[in-house]
Amino acid sequence: MSYRCFCRKLQNNVSHSETSYKETGLNTSAAPAFVSTRRHDDILLVTIDNPPVNALGVDVRRALVEAIETADADPKVLAVVLVGAGRNFLGGADIREFGKPPLAPALPDVCNRIEACSKPVVASIHGAALGGGLEVALGAHYRVALGTAKLGLPEVLLGLLPGAGGTQRTPRLIGAAAALELMLSGRHIGAAEAAKLGLVDRVAERLADGEDAAAAGLAYARELIQAGAAPRRTSQAAALSDRDTTQAAIDAARAETSKKTRGLFSPLKIVDAVQGALDLSFEDGLALERKLFIECLDSPQRAGLVHAFFAEREAAKAPETRAAQPRSIGSVGIIGGGTMGAGIAVAVLDAGLPVVMIERDEEALARGRANVDKVYTGLIAKGRMKLDAKDAIMARWSGSTAYDALSQVDLVIEAVFEDMAVKQAVFKELDRVCKPGAVLATNTSYLDIDQIAASISRPQDVIGLHFFSPANIMKLLEIVVPAKVAADVVATAFELAKKLKKTAVRAGVCDGFIGNRVLAVYGAAAQAIMEDGASPYQIDKAVRDFGYPMGPFQVSDLAGGDIGWATRKRRAATRDPQARYVQIPDRLAERGWFGQKTGRGYYLYPEAARVGTPDPEVEAIIDAERQRAGISPKSFTDEDIVRRYLAAMVNEGANVVHQKIALRPLDVDVTFVHGYGFPRYRGGPMHYADTVGLEKILADIQEFAKEDPLFWQPSPLLLELVARGANFASLNHTK
Ligand code: 3HC
Ligand code: NAI
Repeated sequence: MSYRCFCRKLQNNVSHSETSYKETGLNTSAAPAFVSTRRHDDILLVTIDNPPVNALGVDVRRALVEAIETADADPKVLAVVLVGAGRNFLGGADIREFGKPPLAPALPDVCNRIEACSKPVVASIHGAALGGGLEVALGAHYRVALGTAKLGLPEVLLGLLPGAGGTQRTPRLIGAAAALELMLSGRHIGAAEAAKLGLVDRVAERLADGEDAAAAGLAYARELIQAGAAPRRTSQAAALSDRDTTQAAIDAARAETSKKTRGLFSPLKIVDAVQGALDLSFEDGLALERKLFIECLDSPQRAGLVHAFFAEREAAKAPETRAAQPRSIGSVGIIGGGTMGAGIAVAVLDAGLPVVMIERDEEALARGRANVDKVYTGLIAKGRMKLDAKDAIMARWSGSTAYDALSQVDLVIEAVFEDMAVKQAVFKELDRVCKPGAVLATNTSYLDIDQIAASISRPQDVIGLHFFSPANIMKLLEIVVPAKVAADVVATAFELAKKLKKTAVRAGVCDGFIGNRVLAVYGAAAQAIMEDGASPYQIDKAVRDFGYPMGPFQVSDLAGGDIGWATRKRRAATRDPQARYVQIPDRLAERGWFGQKTGRGYYLYPEAARVGTPDPEVEAIIDAERQRAGISPKSFTDEDIVRRYLAAMVNEGANVVHQKIALRPLDVDVTFVHGYGFPRYRGGPMHYADTVGLEKILADIQEFAKEDPLFWQPSPLLLELVARGANFASLNHTK
């Protein structure tokens, strides 16, 4: 029996007015219902139910078409209402289907079928109506949004364009400028903005408790029936009728996009598709959209961005989050109000929690408060915050120079100087004053958290929460898990990350955890490339052309060369004397050239310029260092530079996985995309390595090892995977 016949038979056998369309197969009792229909007098309520987000997988698409055909065929049905079950309308196309053989009906056909319905179709939207989900709603004839609605066309964030009529219907409905802005930014908008743009017809009035999207949709459909409203097809909407205005909007978007989205494939395709909406019939426009969509679908950028999407969700599922319930966190203590303490305080305050800040003395405390205050004052100056909102937030900040003020907080984050003795002294105080069960976290960048934990009476409560600077902006949070920590403390850290809207990655204890440990290695590779002949400016450019926003020497100038210098001096005694040590950064630091803050570093920053210019004196210093080290400079192509830089990164990433510092390669990917500027569209270093081929990466490492065998030692994991013909992706779902 065909799927359709099966559904028809099922329908005929149902005596009451509710039908579930199920997956094919006669044993339907355990099969999931993806779409159910229920008659409400002369309205057919169609509910899409495909947890967790009602993604439009093939079963949903089939059943949705069936439901519309039923409505068309039934003379008793005068209107149709589409709603989503659970927390969302529709979360979009099923991202897991991308890259697999297509299964009919395709989503554009589903949207066309909905639009062709002879009865008015109302989409009643709550929660997410994203991507294909919004395109289904645009296929409907009328749209109502509830207060929870979140509408958007975020395909660009996955390397795609709206491929189910979105590039053709949206501009026809709301005009090219607004449609392009939505599609190129991928941002989500709320019900009120959607109504203002004309994306939805109305916002549901405040509904009584217990009423929902179905009630709002049914009420709208009843009104439409009473008014004798006919189907109103978005494909015929007229917002593109002013050709000159539309062309100007498209030209402006093209110019802006060419400038801003360097290296990205899909944004300009979106602009092309909208040009098609202006120039072509709706049908031809759809055909163009399909062609461009498939080009995007086939691009490695789509694969990289989809990898990043799933990797960041997977990374948040550490084993402890399944094994234990988080402790409850209602207040947070922060020790230190410097760069990190203040940034962390802002992140915590922004999440709605109260903060108690501890500093060494009143003066430092006042500075700490001012550091926090400054962030909000900046927002007010940019018109992004009102004074009363700032006052309300700052009312949740309190400070003290006495640790006893922390006696009732649920969690403490220490962000004092990077010095083991100072940190241990702080933890001793925490041990003394904090209530039992309080989580005690350190923001250390490198120090041994096991050693910190061992110095107090409650090591089970001690964890690393490694934020990145600026902590209120940067998304990454490395959750560093020492040996003795309790599982519920780890689960609490992941829960906190969610509250702070951070992307959490579980890391083990070692020097630098995942991120800084790998950074140290490819940073050293960059130094070696410089000493061997490439200028810092060429290296930065090569790395930027790969997709990074900045090169490593620009980052060093921004962060301040003094920090790295202090670390190098601290470690001088324990450095392997056989390891290559490039002294160029020390020569700059000795001159006080710490980067932007001192007006010069690797670059010159005349008159506090934010973008540096190359400095011939730096090049002379580099030349002198090469001579001192007996190196005759050779030339590197940009490709040579990137190959070395990435090989060093991937190799150390493999070591980090091999030693279980990272649970899986995807954890390394998430770390570098969210904390170190790795281009998201390349998925992360480990995903990138898979696309290059691990045997090629290994061959590179073996080639470079001829010059420096100590530095270029292939990771045992890389050797093993190449020997097995496997890749990093094969390790992503094993834990
Ligand atoms: N397809 C498949 N799975 C999806 C999905 C989708 N579109 N959206 C979310 N999921 C999965 C997630 O991977 C996660 O799975 P897991 O539990 O196994 O880890 C689960 O659903 C829950 O996701 P979140 O943790 O993200 O749930 P939230 O409640 O925080 O957020 C959401 C919900 C806002 C819908 C968010 O998931 C989201 O932004 N999803 C992506 C939306 C999107 O990009 N849609 C466009 C897809 S492309 C498209 O439609 C092409 C079309 O034009 C042809
Ligand atoms: P900072 O020097 O800006 O701030 C440290 C603050 O701690 C100062 O305000 C100081 O007065 C205070 N302090 C020192 N000892 C104290 C004590 N015993 N009690 C109370 N307050 C005390 O340093 P920064 O950059 O904020 O670093 C703090 C920690 O965060 C370090 O462990 C560092 O390694 C780590 N970190 C730093 C990052 C960065 O980019 N700056 C990034 C991630 C982590």
